[in-house]
Amino acid sequence: MNYKEALQHPVFRTISLAAEELQLEAYVIGGFVRDFILKRGNAKDIDIVAIGSGIKLAKQVAKNLPNKPKVQVFKTYGTAMLRYDDIEIEFVGARKESYSEDSRNPVVENGSLQDDQNRRDFTINALALGLNEDAFGKLLDPFNGIQDLEHQIIRTPLNPDITYSDDPLRMLRAIRFATQLHFTIEAHSLNAITKNASRIKIITKERIVAELNKILESPKPSIGFLLLEKTGLLDHILPELTALKGVEEVEGQRHKDNFYHTLEVVDNISEHTDNLWLRWAALLHDIGKAPTKKFNKKVGWTFHGHEFVGAKMVYRLFKRLKMPLNDKMKFVQKMVLMSSRPIVLAQDIVTDSAVRRLVFDAGDYVDDLMTLCEADITTKNPKRFKKYHNNFKIVRDKIVEVEARDHVRNFQPPISGEEIMKTFNLKPSKEIGVIKEFIKEAILEGDIPNEYEAAYNLMLEKGKKLGLKVIGND
Ligand code: CTP
Repeated sequence: MNYKEALQHPVFRTISLAAEELQLEAYVIGGFVRDFILKRGNAKDIDIVAIGSGIKLAKQVAKNLPNKPKVQVFKTYGTAMLRYDDIEIEFVGARKESYSEDSRNPVVENGSLQDDQNRRDFTINALALGLNEDAFGKLLDPFNGIQDLEHQIIRTPLNPDITYSDDPLRMLRAIRFATQLHFTIEAHSLNAITKNASRIKIITKERIVAELNKILESPKPSIGFLLLEKTGLLDHILPELTALKGVEEVEGQRHKDNFYHTLEVVDNISEHTDNLWLRWAALLHDIGKAPTKKFNKKVGWTFHGHEFVGAKMVYRLFKRLKMPLNDKMKFVQKMVLMSSRPIVLAQDIVTDSAVRRLVFDAGDYVDDLMTLCEADITTKNPKRFKKYHNNFKIVRDKIVEVEARDHVRNFQPPISGEEIMKTFNLKPSKEIGVIKEFIKEAILEGDIPNEYEAAYNLMLEKGKKLGLKVIGND
């Protein structure tokens, strides 16, 4: 491979020149080199190592660039960053590092390129390309990272125990790369992750969630979640999921293993949507099943109210992981809460009114809800698989039909509270709510169309029954 091809962007020549001017060595290292070889096209983040001051090099580069970009300096870390075109370039001086027990922030000393490569997370992330004139595009690969890329292996440059306990976030990164790239984590590494799993507690929640999101955004997220489970990390991060593991049997009756079922659902949904939050909903849709599980002699295993309990758990889980408690969380809650609705509906004859109620309750999220329910079909019985999918197809068609006619998706009552007050000369009172609810129910049931005139007449009728008088009709 001609590695010079990776350095075609003119900015590399600028860095090369600046390095010559300052008489120091410079290399491009890490993800940029890895992704070039993998043809992943991640050219937006470039990491540069200088043997000497990374900050000085960044400033020199900025001076030589036509638009003279601003250099952001992070003094504590000895790093600097600048933006050019839409590329983010980070500069760091080669370092020798040692970490303390209770923090991922290292004590830093100046070092050689080899020192710097030693302290990186994986052999495939320690590949460096020379930028100085006499070594432009020369590959420096002291740990056979190229071979690991070919063999699709995640391996640490040093003893994995050291690499992971130095920075426990790397345990998640290993699993995330294995999921994104479909690579295998080498056995010693996997053992070291298992051994160091509890050290994940020193990592901030935000970083943990960033890795979880990347796992969830991968084509087959189950790869990552199985590894998280196997290494014991999942128990520290998402105990709600490990609680779903296992099959219990009482009097010959078994329930399915809801952990493995959940992972199947997540993989299924990932074939149909890139919406991260819908993928989160798939991951969490059954978490209420662990606390609600009961055995009953007559009906076997039940999980009554698991959707409601699960939706409440979503809030607590998001809060614990410092995830946004905004509309995204509400969306996931809604999906979990409603996750069984279309299933119940599809088991029966699909009536217009049931579909109308579904659309009314799910609002704009009704399509996402259907996608979740379709992904939830994990039966291995081909006949049943087909039957459930056919039923959902009927529900989907009916949603379109009902919506075109009745417009209940974002239901706006055809008669406002104000109009009711005016009609019957009422002050704000209970009756207004009663009449509004009565009209809404009649529309959802299909007793009247979702139209003003029909609703107005029904209001008069109901008002009469409540003993109200129409103003001006004495
Ligand atoms: N790195 C490391 N340990 C970490 C994080 C990063 O050793 N905990 C090193 C790796 O050499 C990595 C480089 O820093 O390649 C850049 O890190 P980052 O930009 O976070 O990741 P990338 O490898 O570029 O991958 P991605 O962009 O997919 O996160």
